[in-house]
Amino acid sequence: MNLVLLGPPGSGKGTQGERLAAQSGVPKFATGDILRDAVRRGTPLGNDAKRYMDAGELVPDEVVLGLVREALATPEAAAGFILDGFPRTVAQAEGLQALLEERDTKLDAVVYFDVPEEELIRRLAGRRSCPSCGAVFNVHSDPPAVAGTCDSCGSELETREDDREETVRVRLRVYQEHTEPLLRWYGEDSVLREVAAVGSVEEVYGKLLAVVDGS
Ligand code: AP5
Repeated sequence: MNLVLLGPPGSGKGTQGERLAAQSGVPKFATGDILRDAVRRGTPLGNDAKRYMDAGELVPDEVVLGLVREALATPEAAAGFILDGFPRTVAQAEGLQALLEERDTKLDAVVYFDVPEEELIRRLAGRRSCPSCGAVFNVHSDPPAVAGTCDSCGSELETREDDREETVRVRLRVYQEHTEPLLRWYGEDSVLREVAAVGSVEEVYGKLLAVVDGS
């Protein structure tokens, strides 16, 4: 299974991708997670990426393509992959296509998570993330057992820097300008599948399985 999860910030790509990866055994690579990890470790890549991420802008295509090239070259990715948050520009989609051609493989499906903007804003405002283990919660739909504390490792939960209201507005604009055109790009191919990603996490997962079944 070679999958791309595409959708605006807060549409549930990470939540659903995590479940699908756990159930299918196919590894998930999320460019946002890889970049946040580099920021946390203070690597040169992380230091460079941080200013784009904090501002809600996209990290340059060649940087992100390099990360995906590395991820797809790992042994775990040999039998398939789930890409979350990549590609996000037409140039990234072209780069991915070239990478897949080098490997003589192709995408089985690009799943688009469709969510109304008010719901995206509500989800992002309510998201709380664990800086230690990466677990994600939501004060509205998936609160931790003890407010502000990670259920998995007990660390104090944080609001992501880029989930602040003014940065969310920038991210939504950047999505419309740079990522939405991919719907037409992949729509010309027969790989695009749309999921109305509203309802409970469980309900959305059922819809996701229905469109990737057999991939
Ligand atoms: P990234 O981390 O990829 O952020 P994003 O795409 O904006 O996506 P999010 O993580 O915000 O949302 P999601 O769709 O995964 O939703 P989630 O499942 O968490 O990127 C961050 C930054 O890194 C970018 O701005 C950019 O700077 C850089 N970057 C990353 N990739 C790049 C690339 N390819 N090129 C260039 N730059 C790149 O859910 C959100 C919340 O909603 C959670 O709290 C969750 O619990 C809750 N939730 C989920 N599903 C439901 C549901 N069904 N009902 C109610 N609540 C729900």
